[in-house]
Amino acid sequence: MKILAIDTSCDDTCLSILEVRRTKKVIPKFKILSNIVSSQVKIHQKYGGVVPALAKREHQKNLIPLLKKCFKKTNNLQKKKFSKKISNLKAEKVENFLKREGELYQKTKIFLERYKKPKINFIAVTQGPGLEPALWSGINFARTLSYFWQIPLVPVNHIEAHIFANFIGRSKSQILKLKTLFPAIGLVVSGGHTELILMKKIRKYRLLGETRDDAAGECLDKVAKILELSYPGGPEIEKLAKRGKDVFNLPRPMINSKDYDFSFAGLKTAVLYLTRKIKREKLKNLKLKANMATSVQQAVIDVLISKTIRAAKEFKVRTVLLGGGVIANKELRKQFKETIKRKYPLSNIYYPLSMFCTDNAVMIGISDYFKSLRKKEVSLEKIKADPNLKI
Ligand code: KG4
Ligand code: ZN
Repeated sequence: MKILAIDTSCDDTCLSILEVRRTKKVIPKFKILSNIVSSQVKIHQKYGGVVPALAKREHQKNLIPLLKKCFKKTNNLQKKKFSKKISNLKAEKVENFLKREGELYQKTKIFLERYKKPKINFIAVTQGPGLEPALWSGINFARTLSYFWQIPLVPVNHIEAHIFANFIGRSKSQILKLKTLFPAIGLVVSGGHTELILMKKIRKYRLLGETRDDAAGECLDKVAKILELSYPGGPEIEKLAKRGKDVFNLPRPMINSKDYDFSFAGLKTAVLYLTRKIKREKLKNLKLKANMATSVQQAVIDVLISKTIRAAKEFKVRTVLLGGGVIANKELRKQFKETIKRKYPLSNIYYPLSMFCTDNAVMIGISDYFKSLRKKEVSLEKIKADPNLKI
């Protein structure tokens, strides 16, 4: 079975084609036939963060060229002998789906007239959470393809997908056996979300806690801006933190609260006040900046690890599954692994390969697989962007 997956939840246009080979006992083997992540970093960098309207415009511009690239790689880009005009009935619906998508409408129309239906069994698209205007572009595009080619469309939750990224690229000996995986604690740490999830089994979840203000990634991005580092800030902080020491004794917000919620806005404010106290010229001092980066990174790591281990113990889970852009941080991974081994050795910890921590469409395709098993089709008109979609 082959899945075309699309993610436009934020500032990357992501497309992928996955082949799923089913086996009975374990999570199936997912073979990545194509994986494209078209970054918009250069466009948003000068604004110090993602501008939703610009992200949408880029998705509209990129979706058709990237789809062609994706199909070409998988031998799915086959020209029709003669370009065939879309019938009036179909044209009306295509126009309806894409009327708010600017240049994507014309580009898609021409593409559908020129190329044959691909050998794909399902289409997956991120429904939310994410930036609403950006999400709509992916959804409207996916709805059009699904309608025109009569291929079922499965809407996917981006947060769940970040956890499923753990199933990509495992060697045989590492393939996670479903039977021994659950119950699990999922921790998703991205630019927009910090969520702790109790997973009883696939698709049976309870949200234990989430951030009350800034997400951990957002906090790192904002601190990076204060330190005059480039966007996205997380990887910049990680680089700089290697040269520094945790000397600033920054707050660990909510580390001892009884619940599983997070709050990172205060941490960012603490850095802001600290930098105001320090003279501007001094901030140019690399050592000082590095110490700041290490201190903020360590504060984030301490809170995430502490809450996750407490949840793992309380719910006696067998596995901890990490996911999301911030989990690409090597220091965080190392400390997570060491601390779990020391404090709760009963559970195994997994994190995705670095390239699958940040946004990608492979993880969307995997979520599609698990959802499509339920064989419950949703009508295309009912698939709507949900910027606050809950797990
Ligand atoms: O999951 P993601 O790619 O997009 C969202 O769904 O938000 O996460 C992006 C976030 C950004 O805040 C970025 O700064 C952070 O992940 N990030 C990192 C690293 N790589 C990306 N944070 C810390 N260390 C990294 N190596
Ligand atoms: Zn994400």
